[in-house]
Amino acid sequence: MIIELRSDTFTRPTPRMREVMHRAEVGDDVWREDPVAPALEARAAEVLGKEAALFVPSGTMANQIALLLHCQRGDEVIVGRGAHIRIYESGAGSAWAGVQCVEVGGPDGTFDVAALEAAIGSSDIHAAPTRLVAIENTHNRGGGTVWDDGLLEAVTTRARERGLALHLDGARLWNASVATGRSEQALAAPFDTVSACFSKGLGAPVGSVLAGSGAAIAKARRYRKMLGGGMRQIGMLCAAALHALDHHRARLKDDHVHARRLAEGLAEMPGVTIDPASVRTNIVIAGLDRMPAAELVALASAEGVRIAAVGPHHVRAVTHLDVDEAGIARALLVLRSALRRS
Ligand SMILES: Cc1ncc(COP(=O)(O)O)c(C=O)c1O
Repeated sequence: MIIELRSDTFTRPTPRMREVMHRAEVGDDVWREDPVAPALEARAAEVLGKEAALFVPSGTMANQIALLLHCQRGDEVIVGRGAHIRIYESGAGSAWAGVQCVEVGGPDGTFDVAALEAAIGSSDIHAAPTRLVAIENTHNRGGGTVWDDGLLEAVTTRARERGLALHLDGARLWNASVATGRSEQALAAPFDTVSACFSKGLGAPVGSVLAGSGAAIAKARRYRKMLGGGMRQIGMLCAAALHALDHHRARLKDDHVHARRLAEGLAEMPGVTIDPASVRTNIVIAGLDRMPAAELVALASAEGVRIAAVGPHHVRAVTHLDVDEAGIARALLVLRSALRRS
């Protein structure tokens, strides 16, 4: 039995989800004839507290459409260090929207008002105009970081005062909501647009959403088509996403408990650096000082435990609905034994 911890994108549809997909009515969504897509979009808009929403194939496309909506070519976008938009989207921001990203703040992916202020470009003709602040909550590369409420409010308020647009990369906003006890709507409130993924911890096979004002989402629909993301009989995918939205959010708390348990176990192993208290959601990033990350990944994989290397000395494990308590116990056993070989 494989214990898959490389990413929460590896989740597979549950039997119940497959059933609702099987039963879903479908139509051509480019012609606006799919009956489930608008139902999902309305429900997602409601959960995220925005006027409208658009189903898109991926979180990457949702983020890229947001850049197209907010920016013009040559603009600058401020992001947290290690932001997905900056480092994991194949350079799409520069290719499609024609923007450059400037990373600010610390390794956990958050930043404060001083960092924001320092990054805002001058109006001098030599500088790229700063147009947008994109915040990632939770922050993937930072280790599933949840933004502190006060910090989020201070940064978004200042960005507004400085006339900047705000986008929330909320691929795992559901996790942030469960971790903080604040609704997705409240967490997304300061932002013009928010992207969120159904295909990660929520367990849907495909799909993300971009939410915002009615006018922004009408424009986004056109950008989605331009990017090749106009889809046809997506009722089956939207039914899976709708099921995920209504049935899989509350259980994310289990993933957070599992991640903390994993972090606590890892912290006891020699040669591993991790502060379990910093693990508040479903992502665990541990530093290794006795064994290269690639070696630990290979040794664990040979025993059926899959984790990912994120740099030469760091490994990542992500919990999700296909990993239970027994899986975590097994992963810890395998990792402990692998590290003994160092
Ligand atoms: C924070 C964040 N944003 C965006 C994405 C992109 O999602 P997708 O893989 O669906 O393009 C991911 C994927 O892991 C992510 O972690």
